[in-house]
Amino acid sequence: MAFIYDEPSHTFSEYLLLPGYTSAEHIPNQVSLKAPLCRFKKGDTPRLSVNIPLTSAVMQAVSNDTLAIALAQEGGISFIFGSQSIENQADMVRRVKKHKAGFVTSDSNLRPEDTLAHVLSLRQKTGHSTMAVTDDGGPNGKLLGIVTSRDYRLSRTPRDMQVKDFMTPFKDLIVGREDTTLPMANDLIWKHKLNQLPIIDKDGHLLYLIFRKDYDTNKDNPLELLDDRKRYICGAGINTRDYEDRIPALVEAGADALVIDSSEGFSEWQARTLQWAREHYGNDVIIGAGNVVDAEGFRFLADAGADFVKVGIGGGSICITREQKGIGRGQATAVIEVAEARQKYYEETGIYIPICSDGGIVYDYHITLALAMGADFVMLGRYFARFDESPSNKVHIGNSYMKEYWGEGSARARNWQRYDMGGDGKLSFEEGVDSYVPYAGALKDNVQLSLSKIRSTMCNCGAMSIQELQDKAKLTLVSATSIVEGGAHDVTLRNTDMDGSNHL
Ligand code: XMP
Repeated sequence: MAFIYDEPSHTFSEYLLLPGYTSAEHIPNQVSLKAPLCRFKKGDTPRLSVNIPLTSAVMQAVSNDTLAIALAQEGGISFIFGSQSIENQADMVRRVKKHKAGFVTSDSNLRPEDTLAHVLSLRQKTGHSTMAVTDDGGPNGKLLGIVTSRDYRLSRTPRDMQVKDFMTPFKDLIVGREDTTLPMANDLIWKHKLNQLPIIDKDGHLLYLIFRKDYDTNKDNPLELLDDRKRYICGAGINTRDYEDRIPALVEAGADALVIDSSEGFSEWQARTLQWAREHYGNDVIIGAGNVVDAEGFRFLADAGADFVKVGIGGGSICITREQKGIGRGQATAVIEVAEARQKYYEETGIYIPICSDGGIVYDYHITLALAMGADFVMLGRYFARFDESPSNKVHIGNSYMKEYWGEGSARARNWQRYDMGGDGKLSFEEGVDSYVPYAGALKDNVQLSLSKIRSTMCNCGAMSIQELQDKAKLTLVSATSIVEGGAHDVTLRNTDMDGSNHL
């Protein structure tokens, strides 16, 4: 006999939060949105946490190195898409790990014997007036001095005068060392009224320059997510087909967390992948798995060693799995059931396994609902696809700009590994569509707006952390008629651009 759930499964829009007691201490900008990204034992600190509970989907139209950097700057993590060659994906991870915001590799470099004439022509070529003087004239040579326009006078300094005779020599420079962080560098810049700060290694070789003019951009990321070497944290997607080659390449490139990207996580393929990863890397690799939609699926992946479990089938904006295969579950019900299973697992084993609600977020408040229902963090595709930093094309359609957004199960993505169940290595039918989403500008502006709404709702619920929200949240199912009541109704809107909607 088939097992039949009597209750319908629900999605986020069918729930609302009831307010809790808000005290004077519930101040939105003091809410912590930190969330664990890997399993941990009761009383231990997780090996990896995110500072904001947002992760970007393992999708070609969403997570490349540019978006990963922008999201890490805000405190979240991207999982670089895996439906590309191992080399390309590892290169993207490498670019994220090498990127140091505010740390610029010097592009205008001089030898001490170069003349002022050379300085002027270089300045014209690069447009930069700050030049590093190094022993080999390269960006990483031994730093001997700096030349800026304050070191010479166009009307008086002879054009054939050598750089070594008018540069500011090393002995007069304030420099930072290899372990200087951006906040430390900015402090030095302000304290000594510098226009730039060279960063050198222990042998005196130039590594980077940090400029005062970038100060505003540099100080704006208080939640940025960094590893212990001050590099951005970066994740990557893997599949259950080529993991023996892909995992080592991604680990070598510096990926901090991996996730098995698959439409169906309750499978032997996932257990095999997790087992292989544990045999070869023990707990050195953080690896999430999914997607599942019920307690049984969660328990399977928890027992198989997943660091976190992703929840959601068929709820994604570009997903047609439910239509094509009749598989899936309302996202809210799936998260609620898996969160209960996680709690039971924690009580039995003392091991906490974070869960990620993946797909189907339409409004900012859906994120808060997912967290309140027990998700530790969410994964978003459509949300991030709309931003400047996503890899897809921005196109002009009618009177508006749109960004292309396509599912990993669409013919365009050709990601057969995500759907393969031991077949012939082809997508036999599509499980995703190729679409457009409204262009929405910079990631930073949008994420900050979303987070301010989430923090504000949390304060309304009397919660200053995600854990507290989960403990205190009171959720209610709403009827179809009360959903109508929740939007603007029975009025004629004056300005259609300001229709009161907070649709993402
Ligand atoms: P949103 O709603 O944020 O969903 O756009 C993103 C999530 O959708 C999943 N995904 C797919 N699911 N067919 C599917 O059934 C697809 O082609 C597809 N592509 C992505 C994935 O979990 C992603 O994080």
